[in-house]
Parts: sequence; C-alpha cells; structure tokens
Amino acid sequence: MQSLLKEQTAEKHRIAERKPFNMRMFKGELNQQAYLHYLEQQLAIFSALEQYPLPHSSLNRTPSILQDIHELEANGAVKKGELPATTTYKNYLNSLTASERLPHVYLHYLAIAYGGQIMKTKVPSKGHFYDFNNFEACIVSIRQIQKDSWVNEVNKGYDAIIDIFDALEATLLETTKIIEHA
Ligand code: HEM
Repeated sequence: MQSLLKEQTAEKHRIAERKPFNMRMFKGELNQQAYLHYLEQQLAIFSALEQYPLPHSSLNRTPSILQDIHELEANGAVKKGELPATTTYKNYLNSLTASERLPHVYLHYLAIAYGGQIMKTKVPSKGHFYDFNNFEACIVSIRQIQKDSWVNEVNKGYDAIIDIFDALEATLLETTKIIEHA
C-alpha cells in the first residue's frame, strides 16, 4: 500500500523529476562539467546530512561523491562551487537537530537509491554515487523510520532541490551562451 507520505509528496516529486536540468541528466545529455557542478551541490547536501549517524552505515555517500568528483577533475572538468540555493538549503539543514533531519535523509537517500540505478547508466562518470553496499538493508533502514507526519518537511526538501535544479539550469544556459558568443 502507498504511504500517506509518498502520496502527499507526489506532486513535488513530479515537479522535481521534470525540472529541465534533471531531465537532461536523465536523458544522458549532461557533459562532465555540468555533472561536476551537480555533484558539488550534492556533496554539500550529503555532507550536511552525514554529520550525524545515518539509519544504516552503508548509506554514507560523501566518499563516493568525492570519488566521482575526482574522476571528473582528472578528466579536466573544473569546480564551479556551491550555488546560493545550495548554501541556503545547507544552512537550513545545519539548523536542524539529528532527528529533525530524518525527513531529508528519507528524501535524498531514497532519491539516489530508486532513481539512481538508471541514472548511473546516464551520467558522464563511473557513478560511484549510486552504488550502495547492502542495498536492501539500506532501504529497509529508512522504510522502518519514515513517518507520515514528515510530509511538510519532505516537501520543504523538494522545494529546495527544485530551486537547486533551477540554479543549475541557469548556470548551464549561461555557459552555453558564453560558448556560443566566443
Ligand atoms: C529522473 C528523475 C527521477 C525518477 C525517474 C524517479 C523515479 C522514482 C520512482 C520510479 C520511484 C518509486 C520507487 C518505488 O516506489 O518502488 C521514486 C521514489 C522516490 N523518489 Fe524519485 N525519481 C526521480 C527523481 C527524484 C528526485 C529529484 C527526488 C528528490 C531529491 C526523488 C525522491 C524520491 C523519493 C523520496 C522516493 C520514495 C517515495 C516513497 O516511496 O516513499 N526522486 N522515484
């Protein structure tokens, strides 16, 4: 049966999923530079979430994101830094206690676990980000703690990721314009 949490966050999931930057990534259209910029934002979010122990130790993403970032840098892609929208969300996460962060843990780790297995085949990197040891146990550890009362907080997280996708798209379009005028 579908949880109330999934049902009442489904609209924001649909909006996030269909954001142009996410669609480009899902269609395999991002170059290494644009994907590196995306990973920089993910690193900021996951490092904030990983300041406290997670429901399962194999959920930890920071080392795998760093591995992918180093791979892209070794290929010549250059870091563009954390976007203001990401800093705003990171600061918000850092203002929450460990238990108040759990709705955001649900959001970001299930996003990578579910969408990630296809995403791994589409991104211009080896995609260590999407590789989980103990995959089933990781999912179960989140499923066991998720609560329907998290709706508002999860929707806040979706709003943040939607803003970040918009900012990544704006940077991408700006970069394309500069290249076209060069
Ligand atoms: C290309 C983009 C995406 C695709 C194709 C996608 C697809 C899916 C699918 C098929 C499920 C259902 C899995 C199942 O119930 O067995 C799912 C669940 C989920 N997705 Fe996404 N997703 C995408 C992007 C995102 C994004 C950007 C986020 C948030 C950062 C997100 C967060 C979640 C969460 C939290 C769930 C679990 C919902 C629940 O069952 O409680 N997804 N996704």
